[in-house]
Amino acid sequence: MTLSELEIGKAKSLEEIAVAEGATLEALRVKYVGRNGLIPAIIKGMKDVPKDERPAFGKAVQAWKAEVEAALEARGGGSQPEAQVDADLTLPSNWRKLGVEHPLSRVIKESAQIFSRLGFTVADGPELENKFNNFTALNTPPHHPSMDRSDTFWFGEDCLLRTQTSPVQIRTMMANKPPIRVICPGRTYRRDTTDATHSANFHQIEGLYVDTKEKPVSLADLKSILAYFAKEMMGDGVTVRFRPHFFPFTEPSVEVDFSCHVCKGKGCNVCKQSGWIEVAGAGMVDPRVFKFVDYNPEEVYGYAFGFGVERIAMIKYGIPDIRWLYENDLRFLNQLG
Ligand code: DAH
Repeated sequence: MTLSELEIGKAKSLEEIAVAEGATLEALRVKYVGRNGLIPAIIKGMKDVPKDERPAFGKAVQAWKAEVEAALEARGGGSQPEAQVDADLTLPSNWRKLGVEHPLSRVIKESAQIFSRLGFTVADGPELENKFNNFTALNTPPHHPSMDRSDTFWFGEDCLLRTQTSPVQIRTMMANKPPIRVICPGRTYRRDTTDATHSANFHQIEGLYVDTKEKPVSLADLKSILAYFAKEMMGDGVTVRFRPHFFPFTEPSVEVDFSCHVCKGKGCNVCKQSGWIEVAGAGMVDPRVFKFVDYNPEEVYGYAFGFGVERIAMIKYGIPDIRWLYENDLRFLNQLG
């Protein structure tokens, strides 16, 4: 295990503890600092760490242990002596029904947690956009069909409900200098007729990483972060593949597939027997986009990607109809409690 893997492990453990309570908190204590827990196991394995790295490594593990113990303590889950029980345990307890997190909120929250471990922060932008941010600066040709009144909700000549989260890329680049590493979750709107797989209002998560030519961002970097995301979001063994595609704002552009988490790529109903499920569009930021935001395309490189949140939620939780996500039927929502 390397120092940076240790840091990732630490961030993950603290995130888990920050939202846990009761029995989950105790399970996390056992998992991380219990006698057979992860941190003691790492300490035991220190003899295999090269000698010159050992002091720094040892310090980092001890710091991790202390932080986990403090975090557990802060949430009331540190190791405590057995309480003296003298109440009547046969009486019914107080029953308190808590609401459950909506699947879309859960996917957005988990995505932000996963990408934050890779150094991404969350950026935001308005749902009412102008034509420049939603289309022009994203290198969309002037008569592209996506700009039609039949595809996009327009309010006058220059105001529209954003059709994608990509305009947040433009806003972020105009307001900041590289390096930029953001994800932008949010609502998007298209004039689609609602059916089992379409909705006029849905959600996307945009991603953007731009850095200077001294640290040239590459398609291989894009693939590796998406592979990490796939594994964290869908489970071990899920891999990614790229297929060539076209988007006006990236060159080259790809469509991104996850290997099917249900059949592990063998072919089943979920992946329509192909072993793969399409989840995102992505690519290297087109130099023309850099020009629109006043970056010098000779000086910077970047990648971008865009996921459908509904799509991830539907495949992750096996939801066959997108409309179930908007109907607020408690029989459906409570299942994810
Ligand atoms: N905006 C695209 C869409 O709505 C998705 C997308 C594709 C976003 C490629 C990107 C990208 O950032 O690089 O279909």
